[in-house]
Amino acid sequence: MTQVAHTPRVFSGIKPSGGLTLGNYLGAIKRWVDMQGPDFETVYCVVDLHAITVWQDPAELANATREVAAGMLASGIDPKGSVLFNQAQVPAHTQLAWIFNCVARVGWMNRMTQFKDKAGKNAEKVSLGLYAYPALMASDILLYHGTHVPVGEDQKQHVELTRDIATKFNHDYGVDFFPTPEPIIDGPATRVMNLRDGTKKMSKSGESDMERINMTDDADKIAKKFKKARTDPEPLPETLDGLKDRPEARNLVDIFAALSDQTPEAVIGEYAGAGWGKFKPALADLAVAKLAPISAEMARLMNDPAEIDRLLANGAERAEEIAQPILRKTYDIVGLVSSR
Ligand code: TYM
Repeated sequence: MTQVAHTPRVFSGIKPSGGLTLGNYLGAIKRWVDMQGPDFETVYCVVDLHAITVWQDPAELANATREVAAGMLASGIDPKGSVLFNQAQVPAHTQLAWIFNCVARVGWMNRMTQFKDKAGKNAEKVSLGLYAYPALMASDILLYHGTHVPVGEDQKQHVELTRDIATKFNHDYGVDFFPTPEPIIDGPATRVMNLRDGTKKMSKSGESDMERINMTDDADKIAKKFKKARTDPEPLPETLDGLKDRPEARNLVDIFAALSDQTPEAVIGEYAGAGWGKFKPALADLAVAKLAPISAEMARLMNDPAEIDRLLANGAERAEEIAQPILRKTYDIVGLVSSR
């Protein structure tokens, strides 16, 4: 077996299935921005092919794809330093995914908790794509020989499956070709919770708009949502331990910490003993200060969709330059003749 050294390369993606939330920002985009620089090559993708595993209105999908790209750009993803593109423009993703469909085992897919949650009692009626989705995600990462995958907590199992697919491929074909990527799940906000129920994840698709902060919300909305966020009657404790059985309170402290680049301990240090009447307005002010410039920039970018399309096309070309040799080599390893 030949040993291949893999250059550190970050890969991550977001589905354009609706608008971006504070969870996407703190759990993913903000951390992607921080990983840009000399230590890694960074590849960031709007994963539109993942979005259509559940029905998407075509016009809304196209709009959401541009809006997610705008959100990344407005947050500080640099389209020159990072490779920023949408998945559908690089067909190699689906080509490698097919090969991985043939590597991954049905038993592995059956263990995916996100599929079980999403399919629920309706498992017979959901799309085959929703079931196969984690193999496409493995393809997204491994097509670039991605080594580091910054994601929120909810994607951990999918990155672990990616490692299993890479390992099985290498083993079955007797090669050391694909790296086993590391999920990077760090910082205080890897699982931002619903503002109305601290035991549920904040998501794009929750039923009430009051349970999430959208990256397009204006200052008034952000302030109102934090003011109305569910809490308990107790003031903030002296130590983080005191938040153990207080999920809503813990969530707001974590959000504060992530937005202000502090640890939750430091936030508690500053606000120990404070009531919600003091903490919530401070949190709302902080969130507005951080998010309002981003939503303003998103709106500006969305006024010029042709410019976003140009950036995505350019990113897709650069993505393809990395992906094509890896796909060709994979075909070679598998014994798929490509003679043109
Ligand atoms: P998606 O689109 O659901 O979410 C995008 C990213 O945002 C994170 N995230 C959160 N983090 C903290 N708290 C929350 N409430 C929260 N909600 C979402 C997610 O963990 C994720 O990092 N399958 C992926 C997209 C994907 C991908 C990939 C990711 C496709 N291919 C390859 C990494 C590498 C997804 O549906 O993410």
